[in-house]
Amino acid sequence: MKRLLLVLSFIFALLPLAGRETLSLNGRWNYIVDPMDTGIYKYQMQLQRPSKRYFADRHFYQDKSKLIEYDFDKAPALAVPGDWNTQSERLYYYEGSVWYRRLFHVHKLPGQRYFLQFDAVNYKCMVGLNNEILGEHKGGFTPFRFEVTEVLKEGENSLVVWVNNTRGVSEVPTLNFDWWNYGGITRDVSLVAVPEVYIKDWRYRFDGKEVTFDVFLDGGSAEVQVEIPELRVKKTCAVKEGVASFKAKIRPERWSPEHPRLYDISITAGADRLDERIGFRTIQTAGEQILLNGKPVFLKGVAVHDESIGVNPGRCRGEEDVRALLEVAKDLGCNFLRLAHYPHSEQMVRLAEEMGFLLWEEIPCYWNIDWKSEETYALAEQQLLEMIRRDANRAATIIWSVANETPHTPERFAFLKKLIEKARAEDPTRLVSAAIQKNKPDLYHPVIEDDLVELTDLVSFNQYVGWYDGVPADCDAVQWSVPRGKPVIISEFGGGALYGNHGSASEMFTEEYLELLYRKNLEMLSKIPGLSGLSPWCLKDFRSPKRPLTGIQDDFNRKGLVDEQGRRKMAFAVLQEYYRRLR
Ligand code: GCU
Repeated sequence: MKRLLLVLSFIFALLPLAGRETLSLNGRWNYIVDPMDTGIYKYQMQLQRPSKRYFADRHFYQDKSKLIEYDFDKAPALAVPGDWNTQSERLYYYEGSVWYRRLFHVHKLPGQRYFLQFDAVNYKCMVGLNNEILGEHKGGFTPFRFEVTEVLKEGENSLVVWVNNTRGVSEVPTLNFDWWNYGGITRDVSLVAVPEVYIKDWRYRFDGKEVTFDVFLDGGSAEVQVEIPELRVKKTCAVKEGVASFKAKIRPERWSPEHPRLYDISITAGADRLDERIGFRTIQTAGEQILLNGKPVFLKGVAVHDESIGVNPGRCRGEEDVRALLEVAKDLGCNFLRLAHYPHSEQMVRLAEEMGFLLWEEIPCYWNIDWKSEETYALAEQQLLEMIRRDANRAATIIWSVANETPHTPERFAFLKKLIEKARAEDPTRLVSAAIQKNKPDLYHPVIEDDLVELTDLVSFNQYVGWYDGVPADCDAVQWSVPRGKPVIISEFGGGALYGNHGSASEMFTEEYLELLYRKNLEMLSKIPGLSGLSPWCLKDFRSPKRPLTGIQDDFNRKGLVDEQGRRKMAFAVLQEYYRRLR
């Protein structure tokens, strides 16, 4: 009965979204925890590549089909999207393998191609459909898809996903990072139906006078049409070697945080159609200024982790979670967000664009990754390209960041130089940065001196005077030495405080201490020549296994301006007032 209910609940409803037909596979997925990867290794523990039988619903553990030692139908269920750590006490700290299974029903349409799209799985996975292994993916924060046209069956389908979130020295991020290692299918899963010839990708660029469109087809050729009704643009163009390109002179209302103007566009190619909303803006630097639509802009920002607000926060699961974070940032007076330290969800990027935030997006080359490993570089480049290709059409995104607080070594420089060049080649229209840090221990005469600054468009650095370095009053005596000639962004500053913990301003973790730290830091940082933006660390207290202090941290990094439940600390008003006065 249970199985029947499960199948009936997933009758393939054709949801005509944006000219495509999409079935959401979000919901309750059965799961089995597999700490020893018995679903992959043979009992002698030799590493066997999983063969198709391991994705069948009945031969998970043993070759011999008579012996069944697991049954997805009897297994518990997890919500997808969602990390497993916050869904079960037994999985709170779990790092290892979990097998997910989802049954769904499909009525296949002739002439359609079908793709399984995963918006993010942390950290690595293998995907099997109806006992066929479709492929693997590594990287916990970027989307990937598999074509399943030949494997998808009319009627019931069985989707099995092996997920493993174990950290690794040569992974990206590596073994050590200051956030919770949330494992699982953490963002949306969907089945998308497209025509034989479909729009595989598209890109637009706006230089202030003219918009250029490139539309990439797959599966054959078809005439391409792009329409922007409000700008009276309707262009038809032929495809050459799989790409249809055209330019059009336009005079749109510009997108900006104050006026996040978006235009409806439609792209058609044969039977395929994409309906989208895009904004038109320009971003560049001129000396020590950042110019948005040709005018200097100050980035009134805050850094954000992808973690929901609530009594039991976890990875953001959808638009509601993301909106809750953005509303706090909007109330703080921000026009800019540093989406730390990894690509956030597409919902976050799109909603930030609608609400009017400029975005810094980042890949998790965080602290000391394995700079000498070619596999590590390939992983970092893959995640960079997946991030850029997902968000290259988002007006809100203005900065691609390739790293955070990395050591000043030749190997790191060579690694990041290649990444920066790759980012510029993939997207020459945006700024490239990395959050660096001071490299001289002197509290009162900190120096930012990093050869990486020659390669980036911004001088972005993290500093913690008043928390890790000295006390808040020391800010008064600090003389910063910062490279000139480029805009400066303070990509992190802050300190910890437990919401509701009141006491002396000289006692760490009191709200009064944090309030004084913000006042002193803002005074100190305002004196830095070329200061063009701030993203204090950070919007909300967030889970980290590095922050166990009982009664104060309890597994939360307490540098948020609000606590995990969204309750505002005294420092919130200090930054809010500072941004208000900047208007
Ligand atoms: C670093 C790091 C953050 C970390 C913060 C802290 O600057 O970039 O990810 O959370 O310091 O120590 O709280």
